[in-house]
Amino acid sequence: MPRESLERLLRRRFTLPLLIAGVLLLMLANEMSYLRTVNALRGGIALTDARIATARVLQLLTDAETGQRGYLLTGQAEYLDTLNQAKIELPKATPQLMDFLTSTGASGQADALKIADAISAKLSELDNTIALQQAGSRAAALTLFDSGEDKRHMDNLRSIFEGKLSQAASLQQDAREFIYRTLWLNRAIIAALSLILVIGLYLHLLQLRRSDRERSERQQLLEAQVRERTLRLQTLAGYLQTVREDEKSRLARELHDELGGVLTAGKLTLARAQHRLSADPTMAELLAKVGHHLSEGIAMKRKIIEDLRPTTLSALGLTTALAILSRDVSEQLGVPVRAEIAECHFSPDVELSIYRLVQEALTNIGKYAQASEVWVRLKREAGALQIEIADNGKGFDTANLRVGSHGLDGMRFRIESLGGSLTVVSGVGQGTRIFATVPQQFNQPAAVALDQNLPPSPMKPA
Ligand SMILES: Nc1ncnc2c1ncn2[C@@H]1O[C@H](COP(=O)(O)OP(=O)(O)OP(=O)(O)O)[C@@H](O)[C@H]1O
Ligand SMILES: [Mg+2]
Repeated sequence: MPRESLERLLRRRFTLPLLIAGVLLLMLANEMSYLRTVNALRGGIALTDARIATARVLQLLTDAETGQRGYLLTGQAEYLDTLNQAKIELPKATPQLMDFLTSTGASGQADALKIADAISAKLSELDNTIALQQAGSRAAALTLFDSGEDKRHMDNLRSIFEGKLSQAASLQQDAREFIYRTLWLNRAIIAALSLILVIGLYLHLLQLRRSDRERSERQQLLEAQVRERTLRLQTLAGYLQTVREDEKSRLARELHDELGGVLTAGKLTLARAQHRLSADPTMAELLAKVGHHLSEGIAMKRKIIEDLRPTTLSALGLTTALAILSRDVSEQLGVPVRAEIAECHFSPDVELSIYRLVQEALTNIGKYAQASEVWVRLKREAGALQIEIADNGKGFDTANLRVGSHGLDGMRFRIESLGGSLTVVSGVGQGTRIFATVPQQFNQPAAVALDQNLPPSPMKPA
């Protein structure tokens, strides 16, 4: 079969119904041929039984005749035993024959009547001759015996039986041929249907393989599309993240250079004014207030700059910056933040991502957790950096997040774009644990507890 025709055939989903129809047809053909064979066999067995019964009846009649003849010729009583025995057996043998004949229709019924008449005529003729002999009229008995009446009855019976026997033989032959034909037909039908079933099964398997192949091709195509789009989105998100951080840095620089310059100049000018106007207590008090406001402005500027671009990170490194962040959050929230942070160094981009991750997790704890204890851990394990931020607060249902929340997504994105993974474990009333793994080669010393001897926080007012 040419390839295209086979392909077209396979595209049609008909083989399964065809297979089911084939199996049903096979069962039907088998059942029908079984019934036909059983019927034919039953008929054949009935014919055999009838033939046996016919032969038996004939045999008994011949026995009776032999007994009669022996008794008439010798006068010995033992011949009568043979005759009587045959007369006892005959009523047992005839009903089966009669039943068979009457079951074969009107002509069979007529034959049954004829046979019954002939048998009873033969028996009464036998009885008559025996009675004459026993009454001492041997000559009369022999005359009756020789009259040919007896032979006529027997011939008549024999001819009816032979007719029936040859009819039975021909019926049996028909039945045998019918059985052979049925068996042959059955064999042919089963062979043909089996062949069709095998072909159908083969086609069905081909269809299954083909649809499996198509499904897996479709799946691969979809997966490739998803991979490609995910990559694009990651690239775009990464670009946006970088732009955002760059923009924050630019803002921080401008705040530092421009606003910082202005505030510092204001402070200097104020110092000169205080020097000159120190004699006037009212002015001195007013100027002190202005100085206080300026200091607050400078502190606020520092805090904003620190939020925009954590200067501790670039100046002191990730380990110290995180320790300072933990300490600041602890002070802000009024709960202990247990920081256990391994000494580690990465490129500035990676350090910033890790810093932002911890920062967002701590911000969330401050916003939602109502925790009484917080843990921040960074440790090296199996060639990777393991980050854990945990709290014993009220927790949340991770499957049911508020629409418009981006903090957790941002964390995950940052970590995944470093080739790592992030897991959030939480439940209502069970606290929250955020685990992140970042693959990295390390050659730094082991983890140290960091909550003492830290440099002053840049978040503190100057
Ligand atoms: N430590 C925590 N304890 C309790 N709930 C938390 C905690 N961290 C996060 N959540 C819950 O998870 C939600 C999602 O947090 P996510 O940081 O993604 O968004 P957000 O903080 O609501 O908004 P965004 O960070 O975008 O400003 C929060 O709204 C809060 O209900
Ligand atoms: Mg958040």
